[in-house]
Amino acid sequence: MLAAWWFRLCLQVNQGPFGSELSLTLQVQKHLEPFRLSLEKLQDVSARLRKDMIRGLGKHSHHRASVKMLPTFVRATPDGTEKGDFLALDLGGTNFRVLHVRVLEEEQRVLKMDSQICAIPQDIMLGTGEKLFDHIAACLAEFLDSQKLRGQTLPLGFTFSFPCEQKEIDKSILIRWTKGFNCSGVEGEDVVNLLKEAIHRRGDYDISSVAMVNDTVGTMMSCGYRDQSCEIGMIIGTGTNACYMEEMKNVKRVEGEDGRMCINTEWGGFGDDGCLKDVLTEFDEEVDKTSINPGVHTFEKMISGMYLGEIVRLVLLKLTEEKLLFRGCPSEALLTPGSFETRFISEIEEPDSGLENAKKILTKLDLDWDLVDACVARLVCDTVSSRSARLCAAALATIVNRIRINRGLDHLKTTVGVDGTVYRKHPNFSDELQAAVRLLAPKCDVTFLISEDGSGKGAAMVTAVAQRVWACWASPDDLFHCRVTL
Ligand code: GLC
Repeated sequence: MLAAWWFRLCLQVNQGPFGSELSLTLQVQKHLEPFRLSLEKLQDVSARLRKDMIRGLGKHSHHRASVKMLPTFVRATPDGTEKGDFLALDLGGTNFRVLHVRVLEEEQRVLKMDSQICAIPQDIMLGTGEKLFDHIAACLAEFLDSQKLRGQTLPLGFTFSFPCEQKEIDKSILIRWTKGFNCSGVEGEDVVNLLKEAIHRRGDYDISSVAMVNDTVGTMMSCGYRDQSCEIGMIIGTGTNACYMEEMKNVKRVEGEDGRMCINTEWGGFGDDGCLKDVLTEFDEEVDKTSINPGVHTFEKMISGMYLGEIVRLVLLKLTEEKLLFRGCPSEALLTPGSFETRFISEIEEPDSGLENAKKILTKLDLDWDLVDACVARLVCDTVSSRSARLCAAALATIVNRIRINRGLDHLKTTVGVDGTVYRKHPNFSDELQAAVRLLAPKCDVTFLISEDGSGKGAAMVTAVAQRVWACWASPDDLFHCRVTL
């Protein structure tokens, strides 16, 4: 389909795809071929992920699983009776944010009262953990002052979008940093403690209970408030990941057989054991090698916003080296890692203005382009983003198929709460993903609900549900305080 599209464009610009243009088409296609994953390949990827998910849930197999399947200790989705005032922190997406959220029972509404974005400079992202948490505590103090909330001791939902081994809802050990963070002294430590210690070091304010939340869980919970059949949360933004409600009897590392628990799959780590070697292209290998965490989060590096632009840049560079683009002359900018931003992909793929945007972006990158170059650049963006959407679809299909089989149903109707810049901003990512899910999970009817600020409101929601459940149960041990067996 893409080839046909480009063929048409070549004709439109009077560059008949015959003779040299035909050979150019074929050569470009040859380089893009490894990105094109057939339905059979996607089914195969899904089957591998299914095995890895089972390994991650197992008591004895968990330690060697690359898909960690982390228990979240969230055992209930919202029922509409939650209420109260909460603080929320959101770390790990595009921005670090502090929020004040009110959950109203009467109107079944979550109100974001106010929020503030605080920049996290690169030196803090790569510095010591103590500095990072001091910075977070300082941002929170500034926010409390601006909101005149100092003196009130509010519960806090902390959306911390990194893989954590959660021992309890308020005890969360960072397994490893992902995305652009790499602060020393945090891996293996309890993030709640580090936050509380930083607040105590200041000594000028306090918080009450803390509930730790992954962004996928926040997304599921914020959508669950609107649609109670929402039992999956998915993020396709800076990173990618999903959570879903799993049967307790399958969560072998947590005691108890009844009911369900939300599992943070950390599907970004899929392939870290080498099982996706046949799917990876030379460009993916290069992206991994030059990242701050080689060998970590292989699947995420093929899909998410932090890496897609760089994959496109490497492909464009390769095509230039092969003299298939820009008359064989790369610019300084094209040679610079990170110069092709992921948002350029969305802009270049816009249905109406895409080609014009491509021209502007190539000019900005100081490239000497012609119309065929702009068309090829568009084809590259399309190929890389399509692969991302289809891989995500394979992973999501694995989850919905699993939920259906878990429940012994012929047909499952379910809702996925979704968030993330790639899903929201790319012009055809969501359509492509949904179409592929229909093919890969034909017995599931999946509704996609875009979350309204899952990381902020969702964190408040998790805290509210935790408080509701805590209040209902004589002993909180029953719900949130079951131990993980390690
Ligand atoms: C990374 C993190 C994961 C998070 C995802 C989306 O994959 O490891 O915890 O949910 O990014 O932000």
